Amino acid sequence: MTFLRVCSFDDLWEGEMKVFTVDGIEVLLVHLKGGHVTATQVVCPHQNVELVEGTLEGDILTCRMHLWQFNARTCTGHNPTHTQIASYPTQIQGDEIFVDVNGDVPKFATP
Ligand code: FES
Repeated sequence: MTFLRVCSFDDLWEGEMKVFTVDGIEVLLVHLKGGHVTATQVVCPHQNVELVEGTLEGDILTCRMHLWQFNARTCTGHNPTHTQIASYPTQIQGDEIFVDVNGDVPKFATP
């Protein structure tokens, strides 16, 4: 595993989600309660809409287009439950957030 620095907590406040490019790969970072940071894919597994344009309430990330919901902490489908989003390994060192962008791949729904 190769963890690369993405940003600090000053760049990503609790309840925020932002897209970063790490080693040429775009990842969506989500800062959840308790200092947990999820790194996941940028686009919705349904029809490639940017997840950052959705809403975050607690751990639930809702895509703006057709309102699919994902648990951003577990990277599993909330509604519908048969889907998932990528879960890139993260590491926190002090105030700095690191991600292994080769630790997973984006997921897409089967038609
Ligand atoms: S594109 Fe996200 S729910 Fe359809």
